[in-house]
Amino acid sequence: MPTIRPARESDRDALYSICLETGDSGEDATGLYADPLILGHVYAGPYLSYAPDFAFVLEDAEGVGGYVIGTPDSRAFEATLEREWWPKLRAQYPDPAAIPRESRTPDERIMAVIHDHTRKTSDVYDAYPAHLHIDLLPRMQGGGNGRALMERLFTALRDAGVPGVHLGVGGRNTRAQGFYQHLGFRELERTNGGITLGYML
Ligand SMILES: CC(C)(COP(=O)(O)OP(=O)(O)OC[C@H]1O[C@@H](n2cnc3c(N)ncnc32)[C@H](O)[C@@H]1OP(=O)(O)O)[C@@H](O)C(=O)NCCC(=O)NCCS
Repeated sequence: MPTIRPARESDRDALYSICLETGDSGEDATGLYADPLILGHVYAGPYLSYAPDFAFVLEDAEGVGGYVIGTPDSRAFEATLEREWWPKLRAQYPDPAAIPRESRTPDERIMAVIHDHTRKTSDVYDAYPAHLHIDLLPRMQGGGNGRALMERLFTALRDAGVPGVHLGVGGRNTRAQGFYQHLGFRELERTNGGITLGYML
């Protein structure tokens, strides 16, 4: 049986790999990205660096095979990243602004996220200030591990006095949408490519 424990710095490579191996609407995105680290730089690395108390991994005999990562305060987290995290990545990856959206490669679409200086702080942040990401490798999926990881993070967020948590899920990731809805998340917003869901803690 896999166990859940707090994430540590030595898990960083595993987090980046899992992020990539689940990065195509829940399926393996390894073949999609020329740079195997670019997804992790956006969706995994900053959480381990700046919200380590809200990062948990799932581990079995084969090693770390899943994680849930989040932040209790999305606005403060974003301000920290704007100061500490994005500038280094903006120096490393070019801004694809001049390339028409529809012609961008998957890597360039993530570079656009890295260079997005106009991150909006949505109204949903008031009632649902926390946000999270959860990803499990196939061997860890479907046996209650996703629920167990979510409950571990919910407990940490409740202990920190957080009233609600939101997350984004891709429109094509119907399996994850069903999972979140089953756990009690409800739809808050719908954008071009995805849905924002919220859960009151
Ligand atoms: C989505 C994911 C986190 C779910 O975790 P999981 O371990 O597969 O799910 P669990 O086995 O813990 O399921 C928990 C509960 O949700 C239910 N459930 C799971 N998927 C469901 C679905 N698509 N529709 C309805 N219910 C679902 C289960 O039946 C279970 O119910 P119960 O606890 O009441 O018996 C996991 O499959 C995953 O990491 N997928 C790949 C990466 C990904 O898509 N991440 C999300 C990106 S937004």
